[in-house]
Amino acid sequence: MTSAILRAGLRAFAAAALAAAWFHAAAQEPYPSRPITMVMPYAPGGPGDAITRLFAASMQKTLGQQILVDNTAGASGSIGTAKVARSKPDGYTLLMIHVSHATNLAMYKSLPYHPVDDFEPIGSATSGPMVIVTRNDFPPRDLTEFIAYLKANPAKVSLAHAGVGSASHLCGLMMMNALNVQLNEIPYKGTGPALTDLMGGQVDVLCDQTSGTVPSVKAGKIKAYAAAGKARLPGLPGVPAISEAGVQGFDINISFGLYAPKGTPKPVLDQLTAALQKSVSDPELRNRLDAMGVAAVNADQATPAALRAHLKDEIDTLGGLLIKAGVKPN
Ligand code: MLT
Repeated sequence: MTSAILRAGLRAFAAAALAAAWFHAAAQEPYPSRPITMVMPYAPGGPGDAITRLFAASMQKTLGQQILVDNTAGASGSIGTAKVARSKPDGYTLLMIHVSHATNLAMYKSLPYHPVDDFEPIGSATSGPMVIVTRNDFPPRDLTEFIAYLKANPAKVSLAHAGVGSASHLCGLMMMNALNVQLNEIPYKGTGPALTDLMGGQVDVLCDQTSGTVPSVKAGKIKAYAAAGKARLPGLPGVPAISEAGVQGFDINISFGLYAPKGTPKPVLDQLTAALQKSVSDPELRNRLDAMGVAAVNADQATPAALRAHLKDEIDTLGGLLIKAGVKPN
């Protein structure tokens, strides 16, 4: 009996010693000493994916380690976000996300994480407008006819988006509210796959961020009817703003920010914020984002405080907007 207890005690001691050694070694190794994963919780080919890949390629030059983009998509970005929340807080798993980090709090009754309590903000990255696009053979010839068509045929029109509370859903909701119509909503795991169906004619309308759509409009693969706001898009100057058709109270801008799991050591967070600030200040990255109709934030916005404040503002305003619009939480 005694030898069994002795053996169990020795095993426990050995495990504790190994764990202490691992933590000591981890604490000693320079960061980063191996590749980093940046989770983008929407499907490849969408605006979030495009923005994430640009920042991963830019930040890895500063950090000196490869940054691998992981598109863990589904449930309006909450599956990928949950993956980061439960990952080791060691700086090797990051999250690039936008408005759905705020809206999912109101849209899911049992969200397996809290967007504030379970994350450390690293800094804001970009902001950008949205545009209303359709399949190429959609009948209306201009914005006036587009609005009339939606009002006359709501049951016939399908509206793609990337899940409840996503940017494309919020924009679609604002459009339906402004026009007082209910279209047939078709959710996707990202607007990358939605765009594919739009080009194939399987779905009619999509309101998406410009980083995913402007190139396809310019290539003549889809049609743009309006910028989703008060101002025209620099990349599509011939497309009117929806406000020009008298549609008020509809102006949406989407910002992306970078997060780490709660508990990530401060020196690691500071290193990541510094790398993000270097990227948003890089002329080459700024020009590439500009070509997609997206603006990199200024370095003084690529900070934990700025992102924390932005997230709080979105949580305070957008959750209520969705509930008021009649969106039922899952
Ligand atoms: C959305 O919110 O619509 C997403 O950003 C779409 C995407 O990035 O795939």
